[in-house]
Amino acid sequence: MQPPLLYCADVHQPVTFMSASHGSLVAGLPLEAGTTDPAKPASGHAVWPKQEGSFSSSRVQALRHNFHEHPLMQLPALAELAKDLYQTGQCRFITPGSTQATPFAHAAKDPAGRTIEDVFARIEEPGSWVALYNVETHPVYRRFLDEVVGSIRPLVEPEEPGMFSVGGFIFISAPPSVTPFHIDRENNFWLQMRGRKTMNVWDPTDRYVVSAEDRDNFIAHGTLENVQLKEGFRERSHEFDVGPGDGVYFPSTSPHMTRSDPGWAVPGDGVCVSIGVVFHTEVTRRRAYVHSLNLALRKLGFSPREPGQSEWMDRLKYPVGRALVWAKKTFRGYKPRVGF
Ligand SMILES: [Fe+2]
Repeated sequence: MQPPLLYCADVHQPVTFMSASHGSLVAGLPLEAGTTDPAKPASGHAVWPKQEGSFSSSRVQALRHNFHEHPLMQLPALAELAKDLYQTGQCRFITPGSTQATPFAHAAKDPAGRTIEDVFARIEEPGSWVALYNVETHPVYRRFLDEVVGSIRPLVEPEEPGMFSVGGFIFISAPPSVTPFHIDRENNFWLQMRGRKTMNVWDPTDRYVVSAEDRDNFIAHGTLENVQLKEGFRERSHEFDVGPGDGVYFPSTSPHMTRSDPGWAVPGDGVCVSIGVVFHTEVTRRRAYVHSLNLALRKLGFSPREPGQSEWMDRLKYPVGRALVWAKKTFRGYKPRVGF
């Protein structure tokens, strides 16, 4: 059956990757029903760039994958996983009334006081939203992530060797739903498993959207208070209209947000499932120290070059940043976050 084409206020064409800022269609039209994706493996599961041979770990870009066919990504398996993760506070429930512009706040209990079984029994109800955090702590899903990493490592490591701290975050919702605007520390392979969503992602280097200082602060201290969606931001984003088998790669600190609309739900199949497979690399680790040093330099009145802008400058700053973080750990009780 031909998949439905989507039209909404911001997506006027049935495309899967449009960049408002660049004004161009980057990744082409969706595949016609009955055609095969040339990069799709004959067997097993994989992730591949939508534009053949074009992957770069420093660039926001469209992906394809077939992990949506994996048994562990089906709702009954996810309901079982949620039951296990609920005990440890790893099921997260978004604050009622959240929009793309509100802070990304979530809690370990359903705001309506329901059990996790109840939440899944009624997951198709409009506005349902539950996220399963750090699924890598679950041995079965640890192996699932290993499978994903087996496929993405050859894409990432030519530019960014030394992948570490791989994590998985699964988002299950029924339209209308949103994930508010935010940034993360890790590089992210974000894969749509079920249902449809619109995802907006900004270049990690877009200083109009998040300032260099706010980025330094986020990496060093996890501060998100100045990271907010504002008027005029959306037009600068890459907008992806994704369905099962689509995905988006975005590097560390790329701002992003999602939304789904009830009009996109297919009757009897109104649930959206996506996973973010996130990780650090030797590149993100070294840059974390440069961010820390830059923050200290800003306090002294300098406007330092940002990580990634100058390779020789980063090489110079990395050991100094390491010494600084060591001193803060030793003398001030500073606890760096994961990724250093
Ligand atoms: Fe995120």
